[in-house]
Amino acid sequence: MAKMWAGRTDGLTDSLADDFNSSIGFDSRMYKQDITGSMAHAAMLAACGIISQTEADTLIGGLEEILADIESGKLSIDMSCEDIHMFVEQVLTDRLGDVGKKLHTARSRNDQVALDVRMYLRDEVDTISLQIRDLIGAITEKAEEHKDTILPGYTHLQRAQPIVFGHHLMAYAMMLLRDLDRLSDTRKRMNISPIGCCALAGTTYATDRRFEAAKLGFDGISMNSLDGVSDRDFVAELLSALSILMMHLSRFSEEIILWSSWEFKFIELSNAYTTGSSIMPQKKNSDMAELVRGKTGRVYGDLMALLTTLKGLPLAYNKDMQEDKEGVFDACDTVKMCLPVFTGMISTMAVNKENMKAAAQKGFINATDLADYLVKKGLPFRSAYKISGQIVAKCIAEGKVLETLTLDEYKEFSPLFEVDLYGEIDLLTCVEKRISEGGTSPSSVEAQIRFVKEKLQ
Ligand code: ARG
Repeated sequence: MAKMWAGRTDGLTDSLADDFNSSIGFDSRMYKQDITGSMAHAAMLAACGIISQTEADTLIGGLEEILADIESGKLSIDMSCEDIHMFVEQVLTDRLGDVGKKLHTARSRNDQVALDVRMYLRDEVDTISLQIRDLIGAITEKAEEHKDTILPGYTHLQRAQPIVFGHHLMAYAMMLLRDLDRLSDTRKRMNISPIGCCALAGTTYATDRRFEAAKLGFDGISMNSLDGVSDRDFVAELLSALSILMMHLSRFSEEIILWSSWEFKFIELSNAYTTGSSIMPQKKNSDMAELVRGKTGRVYGDLMALLTTLKGLPLAYNKDMQEDKEGVFDACDTVKMCLPVFTGMISTMAVNKENMKAAAQKGFINATDLADYLVKKGLPFRSAYKISGQIVAKCIAEGKVLETLTLDEYKEFSPLFEVDLYGEIDLLTCVEKRISEGGTSPSSVEAQIRFVKEKLQ
C-alpha cells in the first residue's frame, strides 16, 4: 500500500525497507499519548480559527472512538503501518474522510513524536517514583525493627566498627531519596512541550503553542523550534537517573547475596524470593537479587546506546532518533519489574541477629573505641592508636579478644587503663555512643527514619 506521505515519490517502498524503517513494533505503546496529543491539537486549531469548531469536534470525537476501540480490543493496531502516528491518522481518515486529513495541519511527526515520548515518559517517572517510595517504606520499616541489632560495619570488606543494622539499611533509604529527587528534577525538564515546533522551523499558521501545552499538562514550551524537535536530553537524563537507581539496587543486591551466604548467614530471604537448584538439593539461591544486579548492566547499556546515537547528530530531526525509544522503554520496563520484587524481598527477609552479633564480636571492631578511651584519659590520639594496635596484636597472637584481656594485662600497655574500660568497649556502648548526627546510634537511626518519613510526605 502506498504511504500517506506518497507524493514526491509513489510511496511504494521495498518490504524489507518497510520493516527496517518501521517503529510501530515499539512505539504502539504510545497510542494513548498520541491520541490525547492529537485531541489537544485539534482543539488548538479550532481555538485559533485554523479549522472550524465543528471540524475539531468531529476530529476529537473520532479520536475518542479510536482510543476507546483500541482499549476495548475492537481495533487492533496494524503492525504494517510505519509508526503509531501514521496508524492513528490513517484510521481517523478512513473513518472520517476529508476532515481526518485536516488534523496534521501545523504539525509534523517530528514535534508529534517528541511530544508523545515526553508524555509517555512523564507517566513512567510517576509510576517508578511511587515504586521507589514503596521500597523506601519497606526499608524504613525493617530499619525500625533493627535499630539496635548490632553487626560489623565494614570498610574494604574487613570488619571495621560496630554499627546497627537499621543504620546500614537507612544508608540505602538515603540513596533512594536522592533517586526520587533526581527523577523529579528530570521530570521538570521533561514537562516542556515541543508541539508546535513542527518539522523544524515553526509554522506560518497563527497557532497557540501555550494553549496546547497547557491542555496537555505541560509547564511550558520549548523556546527554539530546532531544539524542540531534536532535544532528547530528557531521555538521557531519565536513563542516567535510572542507571544510578539501578546502581544502588545492585549494590544492595550484592550485600543481600553476601549476607545470605553460609559464610555470613546474616539474613535469610523468604522462600517466596529464592530459588532452588535443579541438581544440588541443599541450595537456596538469591536469584532475585542476582537478577537485579545483572539487569543493572542492561540499563547502563540503554544509557550508553542513547548517548552514542545522539553524539554525532546535526540539527534538527534525523531518523537516528527513532532509536531513542526501545532503550528507554526497556530501561523503564526493567526498573518497573525490579522495584516491586526488591520491595517484597526486603520486607519478607528474616534477620539473624545472633550471627550478626557473633560476627561483631570477632575482628576487634571495638579497637577504635579502646583508643578513644585512652584519648579521653589524656593521651594524644596517635599514641592511643599505637597502644591499641599493640594490644590487638597480643590478642591475635594469644587467641584472645579485647573483652577477655585482664586489667593487669591492659596495665602492661598503659597505666591509664581502669576497670571502666570494659564498659567502653562493650559493643552496645560502642554504637550507643556514636551520637553524632548521621551516626549509628539507635537514637540517630530514629532521627534518620523521621527525616525520611518527613521527606516522603
Ligand atoms: N517514527 C519516528 C520516530 O520515532 C517518528 C518521526 C518521524 N519523522 C520523520 N520525519 N520521519 O522518530
